[in-house]
Amino acid sequence: MRYFLFILSLTILMWACSNAPQNSGIVNGKSIFMSKCITCHGANGRMGLNGAVALPDSDLTLSQRMTVVDKGRKIMPAFNAILSQEEIEAVSKYTLTLK
Ligand code: HEC
Repeated sequence: MRYFLFILSLTILMWACSNAPQNSGIVNGKSIFMSKCITCHGANGRMGLNGAVALPDSDLTLSQRMTVVDKGRKIMPAFNAILSQEEIEAVSKYTLTLK
């Protein structure tokens, strides 16, 4: 009986996870930035931890930013295994809005 309850709760847990709202097709650059980038760049892009460039002062173009996020640079990790190309584009666009 115990074992049955254990399996049952596992099944419910897995069901609950698989039904968790996926990001419903809308890629939100800001929320990606808040979860993946603020650790070094800060919410306003100026924190500069580990020598991170102040993003509002960056004059890189969108495609150059996408390359940095995709491949990483020095301490900054590559995000190509973590984010889809669509997400990389969205978060790079978001960095262009930082002032
Ligand atoms: C582990 C810390 C760290 C994280 C996390 C991080 N970065 Fe960086 N980032 C850096 C560092 C350090 C540099 C400067 C690299 C260099 O000097 O070549 C940098 C540089 C950049 C640049 C280039 C700016 C320029 O003008 O050269 C962009 C764009 C950028 N980061 C965007 C992002 C985005 C978007 C994310 C989240 C997906 C992110 N970073 C996550 C540390 C980080």
